[in-house]
Amino acid sequence: MEQGLPIREPELTSKGAYYIETFGCQMNVRDSETAAGLLENCGYLRAEAKESADIILFNTCCIRDHAEKRVFGNIGALKEQKEAHPNMILGVFGCMTQQKEVAEKLYKRFPFVDIVFGTNLLSKLPQFIELAESGGRTLAVDENNITIEDDLPSIRTGRVNAFVNINYGCDNFCTYCIVPYVRGRERSREPRAVVAEVAKLVSEGYSEVTLLGQNVNSYGKDLENASFAKLLSLVSTVEGLQRIRFMTSHPKDLSDELILAMAELPNVCHHVHLPVQSGSNVVLERMNRRYTRERYLDIVGKLRASMADVEITTDIIVGFPGETDEDFLQTLDLVEQVGFTAAFTFQYSPRKGTRAATMENQIPEAVKRERLHRLNELQQRKSRENNEKYIGKRGIVHIEDCDTRGEEPVCYGKFSNFKMVYVPAPPEMVGRYVPVRILNVRKNSLTGKLEEL
Ligand code: 5AD
Ligand code: SF4
Repeated sequence: MEQGLPIREPELTSKGAYYIETFGCQMNVRDSETAAGLLENCGYLRAEAKESADIILFNTCCIRDHAEKRVFGNIGALKEQKEAHPNMILGVFGCMTQQKEVAEKLYKRFPFVDIVFGTNLLSKLPQFIELAESGGRTLAVDENNITIEDDLPSIRTGRVNAFVNINYGCDNFCTYCIVPYVRGRERSREPRAVVAEVAKLVSEGYSEVTLLGQNVNSYGKDLENASFAKLLSLVSTVEGLQRIRFMTSHPKDLSDELILAMAELPNVCHHVHLPVQSGSNVVLERMNRRYTRERYLDIVGKLRASMADVEITTDIIVGFPGETDEDFLQTLDLVEQVGFTAAFTFQYSPRKGTRAATMENQIPEAVKRERLHRLNELQQRKSRENNEKYIGKRGIVHIEDCDTRGEEPVCYGKFSNFKMVYVPAPPEMVGRYVPVRILNVRKNSLTGKLEEL
């Protein structure tokens, strides 16, 4: 995912305009919101476009090689703009530059970049900017103390949904994954702090939030008497809060208590993003996922038995070291059995410093590509099947935005269970909860018409 923050008209008092380009996951989107808050506190305002910005920041991702290459390409492309505007400040932060070696390489390779720092030093951004304003360069990486401060200022990106961090970091060390190295050990925010943030968001006009963590299901393991299910119960009492989403769930920590809370709390959405990664027990073991395909299928069964309308999305990796044709067939079989709403599918990408990167039997690129293709074809069929069951059904859509480019305006938003719905409707509907009858399906979404309330 890549996204520029929405535009604001610069004011005359502004010191200049900033532009932040975000790569990677929702956690990064949230960090960019904090970076934006810090910059606005320094007197900068959001730029209309990258080309007119006085500060450009890249918030980077390192989860796969592809993500890193794109960042390098994007930075390289700014050389001319920087030469034409030598006072422009260029900065790179995020997961990629949380790795000292990568940060140093980047700092040397792009002498026109003024600031390079790791995510955990985000609160120091104003100091780095101040130094850059007087011509100084910064390279700041602290690999040891990976804590991100709470309660920093931030500017929200979401129009109708606000992200709220509940826990940071990850302790799981899946053998393919770099996240525990760049995001540090798991730390939960106090329930009080989460509830207070949600209540504040509601008072500002939000009625939908997404609770964020690498593994929300293990929330509270470092606190007294706390669990994710308990946190959901607390958050759900915030008056005016209509929809609570969360991600990401780890199957090994998805408890019966949580399923019950989801089924009983009226404003908790019936959607679970539950990465399975592989359908083969041998591969799951080598990935250090700590569940079996049987346990995964059991959870899916329980979720569906408790909530008839629940939708399940997933992440899958193909071509993990040693993955045989038989292992891969097991993944296809699981995808066939579960019928995911959507799956984010990836070719395995070795990450330096992770255990899988040095495992034997790395899979050739061509085999990975072919498996990904087969998996995607199957998932497309399953997504279509899943969509078709909605034809003729009615549901409430929270309208997120409106596309006014065509002959008639088309609004879009989601059912509570995450299904994306398009509906001809005027832009005034943005932010509203409207009843929609589904008439047709698209590849990854539904289309319908507005119904009377
Ligand atoms: N190679 C490919 N995919 C990966 N993911 C994480 N690490 C890797 C890697 N090294 C995928 C997983 C995870 C998602 C966010 O990214 O599927 O759930
Ligand atoms: Fe990575 Fe596994 Fe942690 Fe997810 S649970 S962030 S895949 S180590």
